[in-house]
Amino acid sequence: MSARTEIRFTVNGTERAVPAYPMERLLDVLRNELGLTGTKEGCGEGECGSCSVMLNGELVNSCLVPVLQAEGADVRTIEGLAAETLHPVQKAFLECGGAQCGICTPGMIVATVHLLRSKPKPTMEEIREGLNGNLCRCTGYTRIFEAVKSAAQAMSSDDLKILAAAPEKAE
Ligand code: FES
Ligand code: FES
Repeated sequence: MSARTEIRFTVNGTERAVPAYPMERLLDVLRNELGLTGTKEGCGEGECGSCSVMLNGELVNSCLVPVLQAEGADVRTIEGLAAETLHPVQKAFLECGGAQCGICTPGMIVATVHLLRSKPKPTMEEIREGLNGNLCRCTGYTRIFEAVKSAAQAMSSDDLKILAAAPEKAE
């Protein structure tokens, strides 16, 4: 395996430099090197979406992304959503019972945020499509879809602005 090198990227608005093997999974670097354990591992094979994060605004499975690919990129994880209070999408998942076993939930929430950025008022078909890379093997999708609809009602244009903001560069 090649040597560890310093990889620089922006995580939740802050620039970070982490020693990592270039082909190490972004998922492992986030969890083990940066302590961002909100991103979960389900299948480890790109099938379940539990490890979803946004990479330069695109939804990706971080178990399939070599950290080298994140060099210079903007990465958003579930930890980047809540500030002093929960993000409206997190609140909606709690209130609607869409937060269930804890493995799929962070990925579902990140995927929902990604969906609402481009479709603030999605139809049921668009919700299904937006979450089709995220599997829940426990209790089904009814409450999750309700949560997405409720979040879409609750989100203000300010919530969308925050999500779309460019990352701040750390000095
Ligand atoms: S853990 Fe990455 S897609 Fe399942
Ligand atoms: S896998 Fe999602 S609630 Fe269990």
